[in-house]
Amino acid sequence: MEKIVIEGGHRLEGTVAVSGAKNAALPILVSSLLTEGWNTFHNVPDLKDIRTIKRLLIDLGANVETSQSVVKVDAGGLNSYEAPYDLVRTMRASVLVLGPLLARLGGARVSLPGGCAIGARPINLHLNGLEELGASISLEHGYIEAQARSLKGAEIYFDVVTVTGTENIMMAAVLAEGLTTLRNAAREPEVVALAEALNRMGARITGAGTPVIKIRGVKTLKPISFTIIPDRIETGTFMVAAGVTRGNIKIVGCEPNHLGAMINKLQQTGITVEEETDGLRVVGTETISSVDVKTLPYPGFPTDMQAQFMVLMCLTNGLSVVSETIFENRFIHVSELQRMGADITVSGTTAVVRGGRRLTGAPVMATDLRASASLILAGLAAEGTTEVSRVYHIDRGYECIEKKLAQLGGHLWRTRA
Ligand code: EPU
Repeated sequence: MEKIVIEGGHRLEGTVAVSGAKNAALPILVSSLLTEGWNTFHNVPDLKDIRTIKRLLIDLGANVETSQSVVKVDAGGLNSYEAPYDLVRTMRASVLVLGPLLARLGGARVSLPGGCAIGARPINLHLNGLEELGASISLEHGYIEAQARSLKGAEIYFDVVTVTGTENIMMAAVLAEGLTTLRNAAREPEVVALAEALNRMGARITGAGTPVIKIRGVKTLKPISFTIIPDRIETGTFMVAAGVTRGNIKIVGCEPNHLGAMINKLQQTGITVEEETDGLRVVGTETISSVDVKTLPYPGFPTDMQAQFMVLMCLTNGLSVVSETIFENRFIHVSELQRMGADITVSGTTAVVRGGRRLTGAPVMATDLRASASLILAGLAAEGTTEVSRVYHIDRGYECIEKKLAQLGGHLWRTRA
């Protein structure tokens, strides 16, 4: 097993490039199941989750070729409709194949994902939506069995805003007969990117990026060439890295339009965030102001940045209230940050962070993807050496994070545990 070792106290300076967004690449790679012939996707990040989805596509009978950040997928030879337990257990986003498999083959057998470190994460809304489109769904031996002779457009209302739920239903509805309307749909940039990719394939989707998405079904879709949008969470993580080291960095290849809530919150803390022609300049401040933050669906502050932002709040002289409204158990990083000296009290879905304490390096354990990122950020800010173990979590969603931060002058490296 590997760990990342960080010697804290070094200011970050220089330029860093953002990779393609994991959470956009996953559904877009899956959308190729709806077509026959070679799709070409550019700017695909090299991540563990991306390798898992490629394995699943190959398992289903697709051909997949990778050359650096270009991934080609041809699902012409699709010959299976099963997403096995081993793959879904490794990555919940594997359930995204449910909608496209139903649309293309009229059936799907997908292992039901269990709970995960950050919450129960049910997929009832994915299943309800597919039922509204005419699928019959049952649960047998831990597998969702979905069948549909034909899918018919429907009015679907999501009780809770769900990102992959919206994506799954959108991918089923593109080949359904007639009009599907999704209400209270997720507005995340990754949903918009998927809609753009599907429209390029010949789908007729309007309203992506608003709470009401309309999808007029078409008979077939054609393969495309498409570039994955930049990762807004990786961008946000670098912005916080500049903040916690009082650094001065430029982030290139990012999309500032996707970062509204994050930029706003960082500016409230006194950090300078400015748009330059080819990216964002982020300059830290000696005195970081404490601000409260509440996670919300897009365009609100992203839950995927909550753990990282909390590290910044540890470095203020005041008190900050962090409310997590998306996942019920997303404070698992707190006990590790406490080992580094942070003063944080959790009560239900609220964490109160008291600044003014010194962070000191310690051995800590990564528990999920974004929690691992927060521990690396804490390590950069802390006095002494931090060792983050179980780094396989971070490899799911950050491309060479330790190399990118080292390029900026951070003292960190990967080693065998
Ligand atoms: N929910 C339900 N029923 C459903 C679906 C969701 O109750 O059928 C609830 C969830 O339990 C949660 C809330 O709705 O409380 C929102 O969950 P959502 O479905 O939006 O999450 P997701 O689609 O499973 C995606 C990202 C996550 C990100 C969340 C929220 C992908 C592959 N994953 O998950 O990313 O945190 O949206 O923005 O897009 C990560 O990258 O580290 C990550 C966890």
